[in-house]
Amino acid sequence: MGALTGKVAFITGAARGQGRAHALRLAAEGADIIAVDLCQQISSVPYPLATAEDLAETVKLVEETGARIVARAADVRDRAALSTALQAGLDELGRLDFVIANAGIAPMAGEDAWQDVIDVNLTGIYHTVDVAVKPMIAQGDGGSIVLVSSVAGLVGLAAPAAGSLGYAAAKHGIVGLMRVYANLLAPHSIRVNSVHPAGVQTPMIDNEFTRKWLDGLDTQGGPDMGNALPVQVLQPEDVANAAFWLVSDAARYITGVTLPVDAGYVNKR
Ligand SMILES: NC(=O)c1ccc[n+]([C@@H]2O[C@H](COP(=O)([O-])OP(=O)(O)OC[C@H]3O[C@@H](n4cnc5c(N)ncnc54)[C@H](O)[C@@H]3O)[C@@H](O)[C@H]2O)c1
Repeated sequence: MGALTGKVAFITGAARGQGRAHALRLAAEGADIIAVDLCQQISSVPYPLATAEDLAETVKLVEETGARIVARAADVRDRAALSTALQAGLDELGRLDFVIANAGIAPMAGEDAWQDVIDVNLTGIYHTVDVAVKPMIAQGDGGSIVLVSSVAGLVGLAAPAAGSLGYAAAKHGIVGLMRVYANLLAPHSIRVNSVHPAGVQTPMIDNEFTRKWLDGLDTQGGPDMGNALPVQVLQPEDVANAAFWLVSDAARYITGVTLPVDAGYVNKR
């Protein structure tokens, strides 16, 4: 029996990258999964977002662990669609214990990307918590919510382009949401924390556009992207391990915390 047997987790951006790693980590501990991803492109994002095939692969990998999964294509910007997707999961799996609000985009050089990055990375996180909170409170068993921010939500890290500024603003905004929800939901024994990864090896940064953008920052004397520990990028599983700890009973009195998963990046600033 796993540490999370009998629990259900709602995870956004679950088709690949960190979202898939969260799904697999929690499933390996016995949790069932409600997975959501956009499975479409957003025009201001210059690298490919996940596809329906990616989400199907997450389904297959989760099922291989023996866990159940309900997966739906839905846009975190669309509150009604997100709510419908969650309800499909609730109907089949019967409960909700954890939320990993993870979906995000990084249109860093986009001069027209401000609105999209705020809509997905901030409003989308709000929608995710908003649709999940009612069933969690009604269930009356407490729970744990993890909001995925970034080191860019803790330090002044951005390039002077609307997409990059919007990314930093949204990721800081997540901290505000997290702190308020932690207070609002504490009487219901629902804990809320944020995680703040440094660079993680996923398709968000492991693509031609982002590699070029990061190289450009280097050559223009941009912000130092180096971690303190001798590691250039983290793996999605490193963030999934931290989120697993946060949702588990091992962290039962941890709420309202900004947890860097960053190989010492923030402390080095
Ligand atoms: N990779 C990094 O270096 C890094 C560092 C710090 C924080 N983060 C954050 O981690 C989270 C996960 O990113 P990742 O690294 O796994 O990247 P990723 O691009 O591999 O995964 C993001 C997922 O979100 C999905 N998505 C995008 N817009 C959506 C929408 N509107 N509705 C539903 N799903 C949507 C994408 O299709 C994709 O599957 C993001 O919030 C990102 O900002 C990433």
